[in-house]
Amino acid sequence: MSNALKEYLDFCQNRVERALDARLPGENILPQKLHQAMRYSTLDGGKRMRPMLTYCTGKTLGVAPEALDGPACAVEFIHVYSLIHDDLPAMDDDDLRRGKATCHVAFDEATAILTGDALQALAFETLANDPSITASAENRLKMISVLTKASGSQGMVGGQAIDLQSVGTSLTLPELENMHIHKTGALIRASVNMATLAKADIDPDVAKKLDNYAKCIGLSFQVKDDILDEESDTATLGKTQGKDKDNNKPTYPALLGMDGAKQKAQELHELALDNLSIFGSEADLLRDLSLYIIQRDH
Ligand code: IPE
Ligand code: IPE
Ligand code: MG
Ligand code: MG
Ligand code: MG
Repeated sequence: MSNALKEYLDFCQNRVERALDARLPGENILPQKLHQAMRYSTLDGGKRMRPMLTYCTGKTLGVAPEALDGPACAVEFIHVYSLIHDDLPAMDDDDLRRGKATCHVAFDEATAILTGDALQALAFETLANDPSITASAENRLKMISVLTKASGSQGMVGGQAIDLQSVGTSLTLPELENMHIHKTGALIRASVNMATLAKADIDPDVAKKLDNYAKCIGLSFQVKDDILDEESDTATLGKTQGKDKDNNKPTYPALLGMDGAKQKAQELHELALDNLSIFGSEADLLRDLSLYIIQRDH
C-alpha cells in the first residue's frame, strides 16, 4: 500500500470510528441488549473500505470529509447489517467475523436479526436527518434513493438471494458476475456515488466516470474476497478460511481457477484506472485504493 493511501486510510478509519460511535445509540439506552449488539458489531473492526471510498471520492472532487461523515456511516451501517445476516445459520453459518464471535454467537440469533434490521433503519435515518450533510434537499433525497436501490432486491439483498439459491449449482461466468455485482458491487458503487451526490455542481461526465470506476472495483473486491477465502488463513482474515468450499459456493477461483481469478482481478483494476484517466493527481488515492483492493491480504 502506498504511504499516501496508508496515511489517508488511518485518517478515515479514525474519523469514521468516531462518527459511527456518535451515531449509534448508547449501550445504556433501552433496549440495552439490542444497542450493545449494534455497537459490538459496528465498532472497532473491519477495513472500512466503503467509508474510505466515500471520503477518497470526496477528496478527488474537493468535497470536505466533514460533509461526508453521514453518508460514510450510512454505507457502513448497511454493510455491517449485511455481514450480520450473512453470518446467520440460515445463510453462511459463520461464527467468526472481524476476529471476534459473530453477532448471533456473541448474543443470540433473534438479536442478530434485529441488530441487522435496526442498523439498516439507522442508515436511512442518518441520510435523512444527519446535520453533517450539506447537500441540497434534492441531492439528499438522491442519496437515499441510491442507497435504497443498492441495498434492496435489485442490489445487495438480491445478490445474497442469488448466492443462496446457487449453492451446489454451477453458474456460468456471466451469472457469477451478476451475483457478485449485486451482492457486493452495488454497495461499493453506492459508496462512491454518495460523494458525487455531495458535490453541488458535478459534471455528469465526471460522475459517470467515477460510477464506472466503482463498478470495476465493486466486482474486483468480491473476486479478491473469493481468492482470499481459498488462499489466506483464518487469523489473517478474521473470518473462517475455506468456508466457500465447505458451503459449496460458486466463486471465481472455482470457476476460473486461481490464476484465472487473479487475472480477472488485475483486468478489473486496469479497467478501473482507465476510468480515472480524465483526472490528474487528485485521483491518486482512488488509483491506489483499486490496487490495494486486489493486493490486500484480508
Ligand atoms: C466482506 O467485506 C464481505 C463482502 C462484501 C465481500 P469486507 O472485506 O469489506 O469486510 P470488513 O468490513 O473489512 O470486515
Ligand atoms: C457477502 O459475501 C456479501 C455480503 C455480506 C453482502 P461473502 O459471504 O463472501 O462475505 P464473507 O466472505 O462472509 O465476508
Ligand atoms: Mg455470503
Ligand atoms: Mg459469508
Ligand atoms: Mg467471502
